[in-house]
Formats: sequence, C-alpha cells, structure tokens
Amino acid sequence: MESPNSEKHLVWFNEYTGMHYGAHYLQKRWKKFISVENFECVAKLSKLTIDAVDEACTNTRALDIGCCVGGVTFKLAAKFKNVIGVDCSQKFIQFCDKLKKNGKTTIYSCEEGDLVTEMMAEIPESIDRSRCSFLVRDVNDLPRGIGTFGCVVASNVLDSLENPLQVLKMLPSLLDDHGICVIACHHYFLEDFTPKENWLGGYLNEDGQAVTASNKIKEVLCKEMKLVETAEIPFLVQVRSRLLHLYISEVQVWKKLPNV
Ligand SMILES: C[S@@+](CC[C@H](N)C(=O)[O-])C[C@H]1O[C@@H](n2cnc3c(N)ncnc32)[C@H](O)[C@@H]1O
Repeated sequence: MESPNSEKHLVWFNEYTGMHYGAHYLQKRWKKFISVENFECVAKLSKLTIDAVDEACTNTRALDIGCCVGGVTFKLAAKFKNVIGVDCSQKFIQFCDKLKKNGKTTIYSCEEGDLVTEMMAEIPESIDRSRCSFLVRDVNDLPRGIGTFGCVVASNVLDSLENPLQVLKMLPSLLDDHGICVIACHHYFLEDFTPKENWLGGYLNEDGQAVTASNKIKEVLCKEMKLVETAEIPFLVQVRSRLLHLYISEVQVWKKLPNV
C-alpha cells in the first residue's frame, strides 16, 4: 500500500488543491472545450449536502472523512457550527490548517515537466473559518469520544481505503437521528489501495451475479438508514497542462431515522 506521505502522494497535492480551490482558473483555461460546471465538484457536493440537511436534526456538527485539502470542509461551515475534516495525510491537513489561519494561500497547477502556474486558494470572508478543525487521522482510528454528527461526508474516499466495508458499517454510529450521510464514490477500486477481497464491487459473486459498489453501499446502509437522494457529480482534475481526468461520482444521501 502507498504511504500517505510518499512522493506519489505529494504529487497528487497540486491536483487536489487545483480541484478544490482552482475552479475559476481552470474554467477560464478550458471553457472552450469543457462546460464550466464540470469544475464545480466541491461547490456542488457541498450545496447538495447542505440542501439535504433535515431541520429536525439539532446536531450542528459535521464530519468530512478523507477531507483531503479541505474544500468541502470549509464550505460546510456555511451551515454547520463545528466541522471536523479528517485525513491520514499530514501534508493535506497542514495545508488545511494554513488556509484556516490565513484565509488564502498560493497553490500551483502542474503544467509541463517541472513548470507550474500559480493560483490562489481563498476562503470567502462569509465563511467563519474558526468553525473548522482538522485532524491527521486514519478514519479507522477516529478519536474515542469524537461524538455524533448531524452530517458525515465521505467523498471519494471509500475506494482509497484498505477496508471500505469496515468504514461503511461505522458510518451510522457517527450520526444523530435525522442526521445525513453523503457518500460520493466513483467505484474505481484498485489493488494499490484495497485488496481485491475487500472491494465493495466490481466482480461476480458465487452465483455469477454482478456485485456493484453502488448496490453494496445500499445493502449495508439500508439496515440503519434511509436513502433519500441520489445524484451524479463530475470531479475534474487537471493532472498536467494538457491532461485532465474526469471522474463522475455517484452520490448517495442517507438519512438516519429514529427507529430505523
Ligand atoms: C480521492 S481523495 C478524495 C478527497 C476529497 N474527499 C474529494 O472528494 O475531493 C481521498 C482522500 O482520502 C484520504 N484517505 C485515504 N485513506 C484514508 C484513511 N484510511 N483515513 C483517512 N483518510 C484517508 C486521502 O489522503 C485523500 O485525501
């Protein structure tokens, strides 16, 4: 398995900061070819999450699992009074803490070879950054007593985990009644991250039936929660000046109902 602080992981840093904070630069650069909406993954996922909040839930805490460089975590602070972003990468969390402190910081998009373009990651003044806190932590080892939340987001993280089923099963216990859990996943399991026996889908079972991650997530979560919404959100990452990766994540919004 790749160490979260390995060289390869550090290379991803520019891709993620660009994806979370560089939308307006990338939109300007690519508007001739790509609909600008495709660069709005963080805004879209955060809006969908905030819109799904059930006012019956009085818990004003949110948790962003695998928060990466914090784009969604900061956006959730528009609604939640206390938002915790958790990621196993020290480098990503250091970046989040810097952005929390200063409100803005320079980021870079990789162009050709060693060449980069400077961009600015900026949190709008309207967001109270003091509502956000960040933790370097493995999601399987959340602090004891972390408590419960009105909202848990797991965006594109299940397929980065060694044992996604274990994390999936833990999600309901992190929520209060009426709390929501938003899972985005592009169902791209790789043995680099997840041993094949732990994949949520992408294989035939003993009866020759196709097992998909989408269905597996539903099968696990429906025991304690209700699926209230599904959506698809494009996540567009600029890898190099002329290479972009487009992931289209399936989003499932689950609500924890009393007595379910
Ligand atoms: C593909 S990125 C997705 C980031 C972000 N949530 C998004 O949707 O853009 C997956 C993130 O999960 C983090 N991650 C992977 N395994 C983890 C683990 N076991 N515990 C906590 N974070 C983990 C990675 O460091 C990375 O930031």
